[in-house]
Amino acid sequence: MRILVIGPGAREHAIVRSLAAGGHELHAAPGNPGIGQVATLHAVDALDGAAVAALATELAADLVVVGPEAPLVAGVADAVRAAGIACFGPSAEAAALEGSKAFAKEIMAAAGVPTAMAHVCTTLEEVAEALDAFGAPHVVKDDGLAAGKGVVVTDDRAEALDHARGCLARAGGTVVVEEYLDGPEVSLFCVSDGTTVVPLAPAQDFKRAHDGDAGPNTGGMGAYSPLTWAPPGLVDEVVARVAQPTVDEMRHRGTPFAGVLYCGLALTSRGMRVIEFNARFGDPETQVVLARLATPLAELLHAAAVGHLHEHSPLRWRDDAAVTVVVAAHGYPAGVRAGDPIEGVADAEQVPGVHVLHAGTAAAADGTLVSAGGRVLSVVGVGADVETARAVAYAGVERISLRGSHHRGDIAARMPVLDAQDGADADDDGPASFDLGGGDD
Ligand code: AMP
Ligand code: GLY
Repeated sequence: MRILVIGPGAREHAIVRSLAAGGHELHAAPGNPGIGQVATLHAVDALDGAAVAALATELAADLVVVGPEAPLVAGVADAVRAAGIACFGPSAEAAALEGSKAFAKEIMAAAGVPTAMAHVCTTLEEVAEALDAFGAPHVVKDDGLAAGKGVVVTDDRAEALDHARGCLARAGGTVVVEEYLDGPEVSLFCVSDGTTVVPLAPAQDFKRAHDGDAGPNTGGMGAYSPLTWAPPGLVDEVVARVAQPTVDEMRHRGTPFAGVLYCGLALTSRGMRVIEFNARFGDPETQVVLARLATPLAELLHAAAVGHLHEHSPLRWRDDAAVTVVVAAHGYPAGVRAGDPIEGVADAEQVPGVHVLHAGTAAAADGTLVSAGGRVLSVVGVGADVETARAVAYAGVERISLRGSHHRGDIAARMPVLDAQDGADADDDGPASFDLGGGDD
Protein backbone atom coordinates (compact mmCIF):
# COMPACT_ATOMS: atom_id res chain seq x y z
CA MET A 1 0.00 0.00 0.00
CA ARG A 2 0.98 3.64 -0.41
CA ILE A 3 0.26 5.29 2.93
CA LEU A 4 0.35 8.95 4.00
CA VAL A 5 0.70 9.62 7.74
CA ILE A 6 -0.30 13.04 9.07
CA GLY A 7 1.40 14.50 12.15
CA PRO A 8 4.76 15.56 13.54
CA GLY A 9 5.41 13.54 16.71
CA ALA A 10 6.77 10.37 18.26
CA ARG A 11 3.32 8.76 17.99
CA GLU A 12 3.47 9.24 14.23
CA HIS A 13 7.06 8.00 14.18
CA ALA A 14 5.89 4.84 15.99
CA ILE A 15 3.05 4.41 13.47
CA VAL A 16 5.38 4.91 10.51
CA ARG A 17 7.90 2.49 11.99
CA SER A 18 5.23 -0.21 12.36
CA LEU A 19 3.90 0.42 8.85
CA ALA A 20 7.44 0.24 7.46
CA ALA A 21 7.82 -3.26 8.88
CA GLY A 22 5.05 -4.28 6.45
CA GLY A 23 7.06 -3.05 3.46
CA HIS A 24 4.68 -0.26 2.43
CA GLU A 25 5.52 2.92 0.53
CA LEU A 26 5.35 5.64 3.17
CA HIS A 27 4.81 9.37 3.06
CA ALA A 28 4.36 11.81 5.93
CA ALA A 29 3.32 15.41 6.45
CA PRO A 30 4.89 17.26 8.07
CA GLY A 31 6.72 14.42 9.85
CA ASN A 32 10.08 15.01 11.52
CA PRO A 33 13.70 14.03 10.89
CA GLY A 34 13.19 10.57 12.42
CA ILE A 35 10.10 9.90 10.30
CA GLY A 36 12.08 11.16 7.30
CA GLN A 37 14.40 8.16 7.63
CA VAL A 38 11.56 5.78 6.66
CA ALA A 39 9.05 7.98 4.82
CA THR A 40 9.10 10.74 2.22
CA LEU A 41 8.30 14.02 3.94
CA HIS A 42 5.94 16.63 2.48
CA ALA A 43 5.75 20.23 3.70
CA VAL A 44 1.99 20.35 3.97
CA ASP A 45 0.05 21.95 6.81
CA ALA A 46 -1.52 19.07 8.76
CA LEU A 47 -4.49 21.29 9.71
CA ASP A 48 -5.39 22.14 6.13
CA GLY A 49 -7.85 19.48 4.97
CA ALA A 50 -7.86 20.63 1.34
CA ALA A 51 -4.06 20.55 1.20
CA VAL A 52 -3.85 17.10 2.82
CA ALA A 53 -6.53 15.73 0.46
CA ALA A 54 -4.70 17.24 -2.54
CA LEU A 55 -1.43 15.63 -1.44
CA ALA A 56 -3.13 12.25 -0.91
CA THR A 57 -4.70 12.51 -4.38
CA GLU A 58 -1.42 13.50 -6.00
CA LEU A 59 0.32 10.55 -4.35
CA ALA A 60 -2.58 8.23 -5.23
CA ALA A 61 -2.44 7.10 -1.61
CA ASP A 62 -4.32 3.94 -0.66
CA LEU A 63 -4.66 5.07 2.92
CA VAL A 64 -4.21 8.23 4.97
CA VAL A 65 -3.63 7.92 8.72
CA VAL A 66 -4.26 11.05 10.78
CA GLY A 67 -2.28 11.02 14.04
CA PRO A 68 -3.04 14.10 16.17
CA GLU A 69 -6.36 15.45 17.44
CA ALA A 70 -6.17 18.96 15.99
CA PRO A 71 -6.43 17.91 12.31
CA LEU A 72 -9.22 15.48 13.18
CA VAL A 73 -11.22 18.15 14.98
CA ALA A 74 -10.51 20.46 12.02
CA GLY A 75 -12.10 17.93 9.60
CA VAL A 76 -9.00 16.69 7.80
CA ALA A 77 -10.31 13.09 7.71
CA ASP A 78 -13.58 14.35 6.16
CA ALA A 79 -11.67 16.17 3.43
CA VAL A 80 -9.60 13.08 2.60
CA ARG A 81 -12.67 10.83 2.45
CA ALA A 82 -14.49 13.40 0.30
CA ALA A 83 -11.62 13.01 -2.18
CA GLY A 84 -12.43 9.29 -2.35
CA ILE A 85 -9.40 8.11 -0.36
CA ALA A 86 -9.59 5.72 2.60
CA CYS A 87 -8.73 7.54 5.81
CA PHE A 88 -8.05 6.23 9.30
CA GLY A 89 -9.38 8.83 11.71
CA PRO A 90 -12.83 10.05 12.75
CA SER A 91 -14.84 12.82 11.15
CA ALA A 92 -14.83 16.26 12.78
CA GLU A 93 -18.25 15.53 14.26
CA ALA A 94 -17.09 12.24 15.78
CA ALA A 95 -13.78 13.75 16.96
CA ALA A 96 -15.87 16.04 19.18
CA LEU A 97 -15.65 13.15 21.65
CA GLU A 98 -12.19 14.58 22.31
CA GLY A 99 -12.73 18.14 21.11
CA SER A 100 -15.39 18.88 23.71
CA LYS A 101 -15.34 17.33 27.17
CA ALA A 102 -18.95 18.47 27.65
CA PHE A 103 -19.99 16.57 24.49
CA ALA A 104 -18.11 13.48 25.67
CA LYS A 105 -20.02 13.63 28.97
CA GLU A 106 -23.31 13.89 27.08
CA ILE A 107 -22.51 10.81 24.98
CA MET A 108 -21.39 8.86 28.04
CA ALA A 109 -24.61 9.71 29.83
CA ALA A 110 -26.69 8.64 26.83
CA ALA A 111 -24.72 5.40 26.40
CA GLY A 112 -24.65 4.53 30.12
CA VAL A 113 -20.85 4.66 30.28
CA PRO A 114 -19.37 4.92 33.80
CA THR A 115 -17.54 8.23 34.30
CA ALA A 116 -16.92 10.92 36.93
CA MET A 117 -19.88 13.08 37.89
CA ALA A 118 -19.44 16.48 36.32
CA HIS A 119 -20.90 19.96 36.00
CA VAL A 120 -20.52 21.92 32.79
CA CYS A 121 -20.06 25.59 33.77
CA THR A 122 -20.01 28.84 31.83
CA THR A 123 -19.69 31.29 34.74
CA LEU A 124 -17.32 31.54 37.68
CA GLU A 125 -20.28 31.38 40.07
CA GLU A 126 -21.29 28.00 38.64
CA VAL A 127 -17.69 26.82 38.96
CA ALA A 128 -17.55 27.89 42.62
CA GLU A 129 -20.79 26.06 43.35
CA ALA A 130 -19.57 22.89 41.63
CA LEU A 131 -16.22 22.99 43.45
CA ASP A 132 -18.04 23.19 46.76
CA ALA A 133 -20.50 20.48 45.82
CA PHE A 134 -17.72 17.97 45.00
CA GLY A 135 -15.14 19.12 47.59
CA ALA A 136 -11.35 18.66 47.30
CA PRO A 137 -9.35 17.44 45.47
CA HIS A 138 -10.75 19.72 42.77
CA VAL A 139 -10.72 18.73 39.10
CA VAL A 140 -11.19 21.58 36.62
CA LYS A 141 -11.03 20.99 32.87
CA ASP A 142 -11.03 23.29 29.90
CA ASP A 143 -13.83 22.08 27.62
CA GLY A 144 -11.74 22.27 24.45
CA LEU A 145 -8.42 20.90 23.18
CA ALA A 146 -5.42 21.86 25.30
CA ALA A 147 -2.67 19.34 24.46
CA GLY A 148 -3.02 17.56 27.78
CA LYS A 149 -2.55 20.78 29.71
CA GLY A 150 -6.15 21.94 30.14
CA VAL A 151 -6.73 19.98 33.33
CA VAL A 152 -5.88 21.10 36.85
CA VAL A 153 -6.19 18.71 39.79
CA THR A 154 -5.56 20.50 43.07
CA ASP A 155 -6.50 20.74 46.73
CA ASP A 156 -6.21 24.51 46.45
CA ARG A 157 -9.63 26.05 45.77
CA ALA A 158 -8.09 29.36 44.69
CA GLU A 159 -5.90 27.60 42.12
CA ALA A 160 -8.92 25.70 40.82
CA LEU A 161 -10.86 28.94 40.44
CA ASP A 162 -7.90 30.64 38.75
CA HIS A 163 -7.67 27.89 36.15
CA ALA A 164 -11.41 28.09 35.53
CA ARG A 165 -11.17 31.88 35.15
CA GLY A 166 -8.49 31.44 32.48
CA CYS A 167 -10.56 28.88 30.55
CA LEU A 168 -13.74 30.97 30.75
CA ALA A 169 -11.91 34.03 29.44
CA ARG A 170 -11.43 32.34 26.07
CA ALA A 171 -14.08 32.82 23.37
CA GLY A 172 -16.95 30.40 24.04
CA GLY A 173 -15.20 29.46 27.28
CA THR A 174 -16.71 26.43 28.99
CA VAL A 175 -15.33 24.59 32.00
CA VAL A 176 -16.07 21.09 33.25
CA VAL A 177 -15.77 20.58 37.02
CA GLU A 178 -15.58 16.93 38.02
CA GLU A 179 -15.65 14.62 40.96
CA TYR A 180 -12.12 13.42 41.78
CA LEU A 181 -11.34 9.83 40.79
CA ASP A 182 -8.65 7.97 42.68
CA GLY A 183 -6.98 4.74 41.63
CA PRO A 184 -4.52 3.78 38.90
CA GLU A 185 -5.06 5.01 35.35
CA VAL A 186 -5.14 2.84 32.26
CA SER A 187 -5.17 3.81 28.58
CA LEU A 188 -6.95 1.42 26.24
CA PHE A 189 -7.05 2.10 22.50
CA CYS A 190 -10.08 0.67 20.74
CA VAL A 191 -9.93 0.60 16.94
CA SER A 192 -13.35 0.96 15.32
CA ASP A 193 -14.84 1.23 11.85
CA GLY A 194 -17.98 2.78 13.28
CA THR A 195 -19.58 -0.56 14.15
CA THR A 196 -17.03 -3.19 15.19
CA VAL A 197 -14.60 -2.53 18.07
CA VAL A 198 -11.15 -4.13 18.29
CA PRO A 199 -9.20 -3.34 21.47
CA LEU A 200 -5.41 -3.10 21.51
CA ALA A 201 -3.33 -3.90 24.62
CA PRO A 202 -3.74 -1.59 27.62
CA ALA A 203 -0.88 0.71 28.62
CA GLN A 204 -0.14 3.10 31.44
CA ASP A 205 0.96 6.68 30.90
CA PHE A 206 2.81 8.98 33.32
CA LYS A 207 1.20 12.39 32.92
CA ARG A 208 2.97 14.50 35.52
CA ALA A 209 6.25 16.20 34.68
CA HIS A 210 8.33 14.95 37.60
CA ASP A 211 9.15 11.78 39.52
CA GLY A 212 6.62 10.59 42.05
CA ASP A 213 3.79 12.12 39.98
CA ALA A 214 4.82 15.61 41.09
CA GLY A 215 4.63 18.76 39.00
CA PRO A 216 2.23 19.88 36.31
CA ASN A 217 0.32 17.68 33.86
CA THR A 218 2.03 17.14 30.52
CA GLY A 219 1.16 15.34 27.30
CA GLY A 220 2.81 12.27 28.88
CA MET A 221 6.36 11.58 30.08
CA GLY A 222 6.53 7.82 29.60
CA ALA A 223 4.49 4.64 29.33
CA TYR A 224 4.64 0.87 29.54
CA SER A 225 2.73 -2.21 28.45
CA PRO A 226 1.59 -4.85 29.35
CA LEU A 227 -0.10 -4.07 32.65
CA THR A 228 0.72 -7.20 34.61
CA TRP A 229 -1.27 -5.93 37.58
CA ALA A 230 -4.52 -5.21 35.74
CA PRO A 231 -7.55 -7.45 36.28
CA PRO A 232 -7.60 -10.14 33.57
CA GLY A 233 -11.07 -9.21 32.37
CA LEU A 234 -10.37 -5.49 32.11
CA VAL A 235 -10.16 -5.23 28.32
CA ASP A 236 -13.39 -7.14 27.74
CA GLU A 237 -15.12 -5.04 30.36
CA VAL A 238 -13.98 -1.77 28.79
CA VAL A 239 -15.16 -2.90 25.37
CA ALA A 240 -18.52 -4.07 26.70
CA ARG A 241 -19.25 -1.13 28.99
CA VAL A 242 -17.39 1.77 27.42
CA ALA A 243 -16.17 1.43 23.83
CA GLN A 244 -18.97 -0.55 22.20
CA PRO A 245 -21.81 1.49 23.79
CA THR A 246 -20.03 4.72 22.79
CA VAL A 247 -19.44 3.58 19.20
CA ASP A 248 -23.08 2.42 19.01
CA GLU A 249 -24.36 5.73 20.39
CA MET A 250 -22.29 7.70 17.86
CA ARG A 251 -23.56 5.54 14.99
CA HIS A 252 -27.16 5.89 16.09
CA ARG A 253 -26.74 9.66 16.08
CA GLY A 254 -25.61 9.53 12.46
CA THR A 255 -22.02 10.48 13.32
CA PRO A 256 -20.20 7.12 13.33
CA PHE A 257 -16.85 7.01 15.07
CA ALA A 258 -14.20 5.34 12.88
CA GLY A 259 -10.64 5.53 14.10
CA VAL A 260 -9.13 4.98 17.55
CA LEU A 261 -11.32 5.60 20.54
CA TYR A 262 -8.76 6.18 23.28
CA CYS A 263 -10.38 5.26 26.59
CA GLY A 264 -8.59 6.94 29.50
CA LEU A 265 -9.76 5.06 32.58
CA ALA A 266 -9.37 5.19 36.35
CA LEU A 267 -9.69 1.92 38.27
CA THR A 268 -11.25 3.29 41.43
CA SER A 269 -12.23 1.31 44.48
CA ARG A 270 -15.81 1.75 43.32
CA GLY A 271 -15.14 0.37 39.87
CA MET A 272 -13.82 1.48 36.52
CA ARG A 273 -14.61 5.01 35.32
CA VAL A 274 -13.78 6.91 32.13
CA ILE A 275 -11.54 9.91 32.82
CA GLU A 276 -11.47 11.04 29.22
CA PHE A 277 -11.97 10.03 25.63
CA ASN A 278 -9.52 10.90 22.91
CA ALA A 279 -10.21 10.44 19.22
CA ARG A 280 -6.74 9.19 18.26
CA PHE A 281 -3.79 7.12 19.43
CA GLY A 282 -2.23 8.31 22.70
CA ASP A 283 1.27 9.68 22.90
CA PRO A 284 3.45 8.13 24.42
CA GLU A 285 1.33 4.98 24.93
CA THR A 286 1.32 4.21 21.18
CA GLN A 287 5.09 3.89 21.28
CA VAL A 288 4.83 0.89 23.64
CA VAL A 289 1.60 -0.65 22.34
CA LEU A 290 2.81 -0.78 18.74
CA ALA A 291 6.19 -2.12 19.85
CA ARG A 292 4.26 -5.19 21.06
CA LEU A 293 1.75 -5.60 18.22
CA ALA A 294 2.67 -8.54 15.96
CA THR A 295 -0.31 -8.12 13.59
CA PRO A 296 0.54 -5.92 10.58
CA LEU A 297 -0.68 -2.41 11.39
CA ALA A 298 -1.49 -1.29 7.84
CA GLU A 299 -4.10 -3.99 7.27
CA LEU A 300 -5.76 -3.25 10.62
CA LEU A 301 -5.99 0.49 9.98
CA HIS A 302 -7.16 -0.04 6.40
CA ALA A 303 -9.89 -2.46 7.54
CA ALA A 304 -11.11 0.17 10.03
CA ALA A 305 -10.99 2.91 7.40
CA VAL A 306 -13.11 0.98 4.90
CA GLY A 307 -15.59 -0.60 7.33
CA HIS A 308 -14.27 -4.19 7.18
CA LEU A 309 -13.08 -4.59 10.74
CA HIS A 310 -15.47 -7.50 11.36
CA GLU A 311 -13.48 -9.49 8.78
CA HIS A 312 -10.11 -8.78 10.40
CA SER A 313 -8.39 -11.73 12.07
CA PRO A 314 -7.77 -11.56 15.85
CA LEU A 315 -4.78 -9.45 16.85
CA ARG A 316 -1.51 -11.13 17.73
CA TRP A 317 0.88 -9.77 20.37
CA ARG A 318 4.54 -10.38 21.10
CA ASP A 319 5.38 -11.82 24.49
CA ASP A 320 7.74 -8.88 25.08
CA ALA A 321 7.12 -5.88 27.28
CA ALA A 322 7.87 -2.30 26.23
CA VAL A 323 8.72 0.84 28.19
CA THR A 324 9.17 4.32 26.79
CA VAL A 325 10.81 7.30 28.45
CA VAL A 326 10.24 10.79 27.05
CA VAL A 327 13.21 13.14 26.93
CA ALA A 328 11.75 16.64 27.27
CA ALA A 329 13.27 20.00 26.44
CA HIS A 330 14.39 22.52 29.01
CA GLY A 331 11.33 24.17 30.49
CA TYR A 332 8.72 21.64 29.34
CA PRO A 333 5.73 21.80 29.86
CA ALA A 334 5.99 25.58 30.35
CA GLY A 335 8.17 27.79 28.12
CA VAL A 336 10.26 25.43 26.04
CA ARG A 337 13.73 26.17 24.73
CA ALA A 338 14.46 25.08 21.17
CA GLY A 339 17.68 24.74 19.18
CA ASP A 340 19.74 22.67 21.63
CA PRO A 341 21.89 20.01 19.91
CA ILE A 342 20.83 16.38 20.43
CA GLU A 343 23.59 13.81 20.61
CA GLY A 344 23.77 10.07 21.10
CA VAL A 345 20.65 8.85 19.27
CA ALA A 346 22.56 6.34 17.15
CA ASP A 347 24.59 5.32 20.19
CA ALA A 348 21.38 4.70 22.18
CA GLU A 349 20.08 2.47 19.40
CA GLN A 350 23.18 0.29 19.79
CA VAL A 351 21.69 -0.92 23.07
CA PRO A 352 19.90 -4.19 22.21
CA GLY A 353 16.15 -3.66 22.38
CA VAL A 354 16.27 0.15 22.09
CA HIS A 355 14.76 2.30 19.38
CA VAL A 356 14.48 6.06 19.51
CA LEU A 357 11.44 7.88 18.17
CA HIS A 358 11.59 11.55 17.26
CA ALA A 359 9.06 14.17 18.38
CA GLY A 360 10.28 17.78 18.73
CA THR A 361 13.41 17.47 16.62
CA ALA A 362 14.66 19.41 13.61
CA ALA A 363 17.71 19.38 11.38
CA ALA A 364 19.74 22.58 11.77
CA ALA A 365 21.22 24.30 8.70
CA ASP A 366 24.46 22.34 9.15
CA GLY A 367 22.53 19.05 9.38
CA THR A 368 22.90 18.51 13.12
CA LEU A 369 19.87 17.33 15.03
CA VAL A 370 18.45 19.96 17.40
CA SER A 371 15.48 20.21 19.75
CA ALA A 372 12.36 21.88 18.32
CA GLY A 373 9.56 21.16 20.75
CA GLY A 374 8.57 20.17 24.27
CA ARG A 375 8.76 16.42 24.08
CA VAL A 376 11.90 15.84 22.03
CA LEU A 377 12.48 12.09 21.91
CA SER A 378 10.70 8.94 23.01
CA VAL A 379 13.23 6.26 23.88
CA VAL A 380 11.64 2.80 23.68
CA GLY A 381 13.04 -0.29 25.37
CA VAL A 382 11.74 -3.77 24.57
CA GLY A 383 12.55 -6.76 26.80
CA ALA A 384 11.22 -10.02 28.12
CA ASP A 385 9.31 -8.32 30.95
CA VAL A 386 8.58 -4.79 32.14
CA GLU A 387 11.58 -4.70 34.44
CA THR A 388 13.95 -5.69 31.63
CA ALA A 389 12.32 -3.33 29.15
CA ARG A 390 12.65 -0.53 31.69
CA ALA A 391 16.37 -1.21 32.19
CA VAL A 392 16.83 -1.29 28.40
CA ALA A 393 14.96 2.01 27.91
CA TYR A 394 16.97 3.81 30.58
CA ALA A 395 20.25 2.40 29.20
CA GLY A 396 19.22 4.11 25.95
CA VAL A 397 18.30 7.39 27.66
CA GLU A 398 21.70 7.45 29.39
CA ARG A 399 23.43 7.61 26.01
CA ILE A 400 21.52 10.66 24.85
CA SER A 401 22.59 14.17 25.63
CA LEU A 402 20.47 17.28 25.25
CA ARG A 403 21.44 20.37 27.18
CA GLY A 404 18.94 21.27 29.91
CA SER A 405 16.67 18.33 29.11
CA HIS A 406 14.76 16.38 31.70
CA HIS A 407 13.09 13.00 31.90
CA ARG A 408 11.39 11.02 34.62
CA GLY A 409 13.47 8.38 36.37
CA ASP A 410 10.53 6.36 37.64
CA ILE A 411 8.66 5.27 34.51
CA ALA A 412 7.36 1.72 35.12
CA ALA A 413 9.33 1.56 38.36
CA ARG A 414 6.42 0.60 40.58
CA MET A 415 3.33 -1.32 39.62
CA PRO A 416 0.09 -0.09 41.17
CA VAL A 417 -1.65 -2.27 43.71
CA LEU A 418 -5.39 -2.43 43.25
CA ASP A 419 -7.55 -2.05 46.31
CA ALA A 420 -9.54 -5.15 46.96
CA GLN A 421 -13.04 -4.52 45.71
CA ASP A 422 -14.71 -3.01 48.72
CA GLY A 423 -18.22 -4.11 47.96
CA ALA A 424 -19.29 -0.55 47.31
CA ASP A 425 -20.63 -1.62 43.95
CA ALA A 426 -23.52 -3.35 45.66
CA ASP A 427 -25.09 0.02 46.38
CA ASP A 428 -23.37 1.86 43.59
CA ASP A 429 -25.60 3.60 41.14
CA GLY A 430 -24.27 2.30 37.91
CA PRO A 431 -20.58 2.14 37.22
CA ALA A 432 -18.80 -1.04 36.37
CA SER A 433 -16.78 -3.13 38.74
CA PHE A 434 -13.33 -4.03 37.53
CA ASP A 435 -13.26 -7.33 39.40
CA LEU A 436 -16.00 -8.51 37.02
CA GLY A 437 -17.74 -10.11 39.93
CA GLY A 438 -20.88 -8.12 39.71
CA GLY A 439 -22.61 -7.46 36.46
CA ASP A 440 -24.35 -5.29 38.97
CA ASP A 441 -26.28 -2.91 36.79
P1 AMP B 1 -7.64 14.54 30.83
O1 AMP B 1 -7.12 15.56 29.89
O2 AMP B 1 -9.11 14.62 31.05
O3 AMP B 1 -7.13 13.18 30.52
O4 AMP B 1 -6.93 14.78 32.22
C1 AMP B 1 -5.54 14.72 32.34
C2 AMP B 1 -5.15 14.03 33.62
O5 AMP B 1 -5.74 14.71 34.75
C3 AMP B 1 -5.67 12.60 33.73
O6 AMP B 1 -4.86 11.67 33.11
C4 AMP B 1 -5.68 12.42 35.22
O7 AMP B 1 -4.39 12.14 35.72
C5 AMP B 1 -6.10 13.76 35.73
N1 AMP B 1 -7.57 13.76 35.89
C6 AMP B 1 -8.49 14.11 34.97
N2 AMP B 1 -9.73 13.97 35.45
C7 AMP B 1 -9.60 13.50 36.71
C8 AMP B 1 -10.56 13.16 37.74
N3 AMP B 1 -11.87 13.28 37.57
N4 AMP B 1 -10.05 12.71 38.89
C9 AMP B 1 -8.71 12.58 39.10
N5 AMP B 1 -7.79 12.91 38.17
C10 AMP B 1 -8.21 13.37 36.99
N1 GLY C 1 -0.79 10.32 26.70
C1 GLY C 1 -1.98 11.06 26.76
C2 GLY C 1 -2.54 11.47 25.50
O1 GLY C 1 -2.12 11.07 24.44
O2 GLY C 1 -3.47 12.26 25.53
